[in-house]
Amino acid sequence: MRLLSLEVSNLRNLQSVSLLPHPNTNFVIGANGSGKTSLLESIALLSNGRSFRTPDSKKLIRHGSDQLVVFSAIESEHSGKHRVGISKSGKGITSAKLDGKLQQKVSALAKVFPVISIETNSMELIEGGPSLRRSLLDWGMFHVEHRFLEIWGQYRAGLKQKNALLKSGKKVNTTELQHWNRVIAHFGERLDIERTQYCDALIEQFGRIRHDYFESELEIQFRYRPGWDKATFVTLEQCLSEKMESEIQRASCLYGPHRADLDILWNGSLAKDICSRGQKKLVLYGVRLAQIAYMMRKTGVSPILLLDDLPAELDEKNINNVIRFLKEFPCQTFITAISDQSITQEMLSAFEEHKMFHVEHGTFEEIR
Ligand SMILES: Nc1ncnc2c1ncn2[C@@H]1O[C@H](COP(=O)(O)OP(=O)(O)O)[C@@H](O)[C@H]1O
Ligand SMILES: [Mg+2]
Repeated sequence: MRLLSLEVSNLRNLQSVSLLPHPNTNFVIGANGSGKTSLLESIALLSNGRSFRTPDSKKLIRHGSDQLVVFSAIESEHSGKHRVGISKSGKGITSAKLDGKLQQKVSALAKVFPVISIETNSMELIEGGPSLRRSLLDWGMFHVEHRFLEIWGQYRAGLKQKNALLKSGKKVNTTELQHWNRVIAHFGERLDIERTQYCDALIEQFGRIRHDYFESELEIQFRYRPGWDKATFVTLEQCLSEKMESEIQRASCLYGPHRADLDILWNGSLAKDICSRGQKKLVLYGVRLAQIAYMMRKTGVSPILLLDDLPAELDEKNINNVIRFLKEFPCQTFITAISDQSITQEMLSAFEEHKMFHVEHGTFEEIR
């Protein structure tokens, strides 16, 4: 996957930016507050329909403007060239276009245009609650398992109906509840099988990456928790049926894949509790690189990789480990840094094929 061109208007301090990125590596250099992260944010927004910095997309619109637009020509390994665009208005309306056609769902862009970003907020993956780890798994499955979106959609529809029933405030009609439990159990079990397979694959890739690039320094284990107690209940349906009363009492859907989590453990304890910040960063990179490796092996598609302030995030040895990985799994990469002095000679020679952009007050200039 390659971005051939990128045009951004009225996103944060980027009033009007037009870039022709290099197909391999793009360095973006600029002082604090110049607009580096905003550029990465625009690329992530185009793929995911939302920012990695804020759930409130109005914050992205440049002060004094009423709409932001990001537009790009891309080239995909399988389907060739496309034009993708997204706009967000101050009234909260998002519209996504693929090859000039308005899309009903923003996820249509993500499908042709996968992006992985590693930036300050990504640490929440290790330190934060389970929903981010579920999103990570779902993102990966969305891109490698073509059945995923349909199963997930059916599961979510059932869950929504059940939730409405439990929260209606009236005496719950148990026949209706049993119906939705059967729907949820059916799609939930399928989702669980897919998720478990994806986790197994991710764990295997992580093991290889640890061995090949991080000299086995990462003492990490993963434990997928499916969202219900499989040791007690053979099936999700059995669990939902036996726990019906407690779900009615709590007026909440307590069991199923929407409650799953992926525990990330370091020598048996949760990584978030015992790892140093530096170790957590390495784990984060390890997990994201494992996703890239799996996606490339399984689909032949390389996602676009956004690495915000890489020189400040990792030490030199580990930056070189990431570089070695990218040599074997080449992705179009955008790397930001505060000064070109933090881009080492080693990085420049490893990423021989590159462009370098300088940014000042939201204005970009290609410098080499
Ligand atoms: N909605 C907005 N409108 C205009 N400027 C904004 C908006 N949101 C943030 N900014 C400004 O955009 C600038 C660029 O931010 P950022 O991309 O995070 O910088 P960098 O990553 O280079 O340090 C900052 O000066 C910030 O104050
Ligand atoms: Mg920044």
